[in-house]
Amino acid sequence: MFQPSSAVLSKAPKIQDKLLIIVDSDSQNGEQRLERVELGWDDFWAEVFRVRHRGSIPGIQQYDELVVDFCCDVLGLKEGNSILDIACGAGDQSILLAKRGMNVSGFDIAGSLIEVAKSRATEAGLKIDFFTGDMRKIDIDQRFDAAVLLSHSFGFFDHEENQGVLKGAFKALAKGGRLLLDLMNPYNLPRFQKTWMKLENDFLLSDPHVIDAPAGVLRGRPATFIETEPGRIVRMNEDAMRNNDIRMYTALEIRNMLDDVGFTKTELYGQNKLPRMSYAANSERMVVVARK
Ligand SMILES: C[S@@+](CC[C@H](N)C(=O)[O-])C[C@H]1O[C@@H](n2cnc3c(N)ncnc32)[C@H](O)[C@@H]1O
Repeated sequence: MFQPSSAVLSKAPKIQDKLLIIVDSDSQNGEQRLERVELGWDDFWAEVFRVRHRGSIPGIQQYDELVVDFCCDVLGLKEGNSILDIACGAGDQSILLAKRGMNVSGFDIAGSLIEVAKSRATEAGLKIDFFTGDMRKIDIDQRFDAAVLLSHSFGFFDHEENQGVLKGAFKALAKGGRLLLDLMNPYNLPRFQKTWMKLENDFLLSDPHVIDAPAGVLRGRPATFIETEPGRIVRMNEDAMRNNDIRMYTALEIRNMLDDVGFTKTELYGQNKLPRMSYAANSERMVVVARK
């Protein structure tokens, strides 16, 4: 899936050329001796992409800090408030929220990411309730002051299931609680490119996303991971490709979906950092905040 500012190895044509040969060539050269394996959601998507790739993006920690500042501001969060981080990944933002004194719960479908999130929280001496869960089946007894879906983690499913995610979030909020969706702006999508990224000694090659205009869906493309030690080429299997597509809802559609679920006072912002910017066709992001 798209990341905010992937470092493209455009300044390393030699590496690119070599990797392209390794990945694309069927010829009999030395590189062909590399083992070829396919991995699923937890091992490829979660571990390689969300942990190793995300952690290598230059400036990602500062980016997360700005996003969390913004969330605290627009959600009116104060120390001691409770917040649910839906699809929390490896807990990058949950941890920052907890450091600001929030009572944080976070869940993700990838058990491997939740393990990483738990150990990060322990290392930081923070008490965060991380658990594995499916956002289509949110069933939590606690009622939260706020809930967030960050890094465009909304729209992975068919329309009914996407609506179901909003219903589940609504149920998990206390009266007056707020939901924040940090989404790509469907009128100003990033220019997707094939990206090469170096992860320590390894390399990740991501194909560009493709916009399926008739379906209103941004189709995630596969990634290939060149693991230098042991030498092997790792591709995503079908399981890892699931949930890679994102339905690009417009602001009006989202507002209607939120209204149908019972949310009120929907606000829109054009970026996920401060200062608050109003949403327009050319905005960087489309951030939606609604109140229960
Ligand atoms: C783009 S990542 C965002 C992760 C994190 N929120 C962040 O901003 O770094 C999307 C996340 O959604 C998770 N995910 C996908 N389908 C899910 C589901 N049905 N329920 C919960 N999490 C899911 C993925 O495992 C992944 O961690």
